[in-house]
Amino acid sequence: MKQVLVGKLVGFLALLWAPTAFAQKQTFYQDIQPLIHAKCAVCHRPGEATPFSLITYEDVTKRATFIKKVINAGYMPPWRADDHYVAFANKRSLTADQISAITNWIDAGLPKGKVRKEAEEQLLARVQAGTGYTRQPDLTLKVSKPFLHRGDGTERFMVFKIPFELAQEANIEALEFTSTNKKVIHHANFAIHQVDDPAISLTNTIEQVDLNAEDAWHYQEWLPYKKKMTYYGGWIPGASVETYPKDMGWVMPKRGVVLLTVHFGPAGKDEETINGVNFFFKKEPIKRVVNVISLGSGGIGQEEIKPPLFLFGGEVKTCSLKVAYQNKPITLLYAWPHMHQIGKEFTAFATVPNADTLPLVHIPDWDFRWQELYRYQKPVVLPTGATVNVVGTYDNTDANPMNPNKPAKLITSDGQMRSNQEMMTLILIYTTYEPGDENLRLD
Ligand code: HEC
Repeated sequence: MKQVLVGKLVGFLALLWAPTAFAQKQTFYQDIQPLIHAKCAVCHRPGEATPFSLITYEDVTKRATFIKKVINAGYMPPWRADDHYVAFANKRSLTADQISAITNWIDAGLPKGKVRKEAEEQLLARVQAGTGYTRQPDLTLKVSKPFLHRGDGTERFMVFKIPFELAQEANIEALEFTSTNKKVIHHANFAIHQVDDPAISLTNTIEQVDLNAEDAWHYQEWLPYKKKMTYYGGWIPGASVETYPKDMGWVMPKRGVVLLTVHFGPAGKDEETINGVNFFFKKEPIKRVVNVISLGSGGIGQEEIKPPLFLFGGEVKTCSLKVAYQNKPITLLYAWPHMHQIGKEFTAFATVPNADTLPLVHIPDWDFRWQELYRYQKPVVLPTGATVNVVGTYDNTDANPMNPNKPAKLITSDGQMRSNQEMMTLILIYTTYEPGDENLRLD
């Protein structure tokens, strides 16, 4: 009797184990490609600042050993935020399970599985359309002719005017900077100006300005456009697309100009680019308007950074800024911290009288190359009377491998935003607070 029972038990256990023993192997098209597309191909695709694409079976298998190494070392995908300080919805890191899934698949000899080309065809179509979003843009506003960035080793700050006249206003669900060649671009930002007055011509002014050229004063021709700014946005290498929850967003006006500033890094050969902005529309009405605010260098409180960004060679220095917030409570959707090359650590938090500190973002080990528009998993509510604190530490010593000067020398911040100068900026994307926002989820 006892033996029968044991026998039964063994049989039962064997049954339990069977599914894993005969488990289907992970295959590329079934299991691995969706992961690679979601976590790697945002950067590893044509036109981005990466040395190779990771889209197809061949792309991935060719570099399997290398991929196994960089994901297990935590080097890829790059993600610099301290997730224990605040959790972000667009977190790019792989989970431990995802790392072992890819590793096991590589160790199992890279099984291909049933070939399904749809995903890569769709991805390549989006690459063709110059978008990192999940679908093709509804509107692309781009410069009328390609810009030639000369390979003379000079940085360039170009501003392009892109006029637009639409049949109707549009509700914006998402937007992004687009370029045919991002490899030579350090960053870009754009302002969307509404120009209703038909007496103001959108076309009879200069089309582009080199901010460091002698004729940069032509920029003044655009002043009549700058009375009303609907929105502004920006791009840094690898940054996520800016998207808004269902009833939030802003309304694209019918008529106006986009003034697009593109910062080109020094190039060793001539490079052509076509730059612009992609817009994604939605049908849902915009019940809650999204806005953007910039604190620190180039924005509010620039003069109040203490001590000022005056960094002597050989010095490690921490600078901070406090900005008191007095308006109606707001709900923060995104935080975008920004420093340049010798930035070491960036922290932002808000203090509320008689209450806790609200963490906003912490980058413990700043890396100029890996920046991001961080979307909160749960929005942060900033009450009236809160003080936003921004703290940046800079390492201007020879020991800092990211120091652009060897030997180290004085680095300042004169508002020109050159990459060999420094910045301390916190951009916040927000909407007016409504009760219940504390419980929203943005992922
Ligand atoms: C935010 C953009 C970004 C994402 C996301 C990203 N990479 Fe990269 N990757 C880069 C850039 C830029 C480089 C080249 C510069 C460097 O090596 O630091 C690179 C380099 C690499 C290298 C070569 C490393 C070396 O030392 O030369 C490998 C391998 C790699 N990535 C794999 C991956 C994999 C696998 C993923 C997804 C799991 C991924 N990357 C996600 C931007 C990205």
